[in-house]
Amino acid sequence: MKKKSKNKIIKVRNLTKSFDNNLILNNINLDLFEKESLAIIGKSGSGKSVLLKCIIGLLTPNKGSIKIDGREIVNSSSKDKEKILLDFGVTFQNGALFDSLSVWENIVFRTIKFKKLSKNDAKNLALSIILNLGLDKNILNLYPSELSGGMQKRVAIARAICDKPKILLFDEPTSGLDPITGSIIDDLIKNTVSRLGVTAITITHDMSSVFKFADRVILINNNQIEWVGEPKKMNNSKNQTIKNFLKNK
Ligand SMILES: Nc1ncnc2c1ncn2[C@@H]1O[C@H](COP(=O)(O)OP(=O)(O)OP(=O)(O)O)[C@@H](O)[C@H]1O
Ligand SMILES: [Mg+2]
Repeated sequence: MKKKSKNKIIKVRNLTKSFDNNLILNNINLDLFEKESLAIIGKSGSGKSVLLKCIIGLLTPNKGSIKIDGREIVNSSSKDKEKILLDFGVTFQNGALFDSLSVWENIVFRTIKFKKLSKNDAKNLALSIILNLGLDKNILNLYPSELSGGMQKRVAIARAICDKPKILLFDEPTSGLDPITGSIIDDLIKNTVSRLGVTAITITHDMSSVFKFADRVILINNNQIEWVGEPKKMNNSKNQTIKNFLKNK
């Protein structure tokens, strides 16, 4: 296994999240090490996306602490949150591109806020990223509504990685994609982590993806982290949910 940093970049402690009386996450503890690639698996509705949204401060837990590089995000001011969020590149499950911006404008949206890039340089930056994702240069000037679902997904990934954030969070980056495109995304996640030294959390139900890019896997089930381990350890796991996930691989 690759040698990983011992620095904990994300520390989740006793995280509990419910909506009214509907308990979703119960007392979750999780450490993420720098330069680690973590996969989160679990049945639909188990709380994977909720956990991700808590980590970036979009949802506030009922209880617990989440530290990003030592900085508490739970109940922090919106100014502090904004600062912490600069470390993140995120893709949401539904893509969530800006409808009124073209593809290239979407991709460089944050980068041009902080770096003075000419329009030409910004467009070229966007171009280099989309080519790596198997997209065609002709889409740069299109708008999200003019793209297929899979293309939108990849543009969202391009936007997340554009300014080389420290931590990447991907929510179902390959769902709905054909296997070849899915494989391009898997490789991209793997390479981004190993080459750029990025830390990544990826929610996926695609077990072949997990084996490709994850250093460690967590299974969320019954409101808790029910299983943690290296991907290859899943093969001998007695956990029924893990077995079911592997069966449908
Ligand atoms: N904003 C919200 N308000 C109320 N309930 C919510 C909210 N967000 C999520 N939930 C509930 O929390 C539960 C977990 O949702 P979540 O989106 O985390 O599931 P998931 O594990 O990501 O599932 P999937 O694999 O289908 O994406 C679901 O029952 C959902 O209805
Ligand atoms: Mg989800």
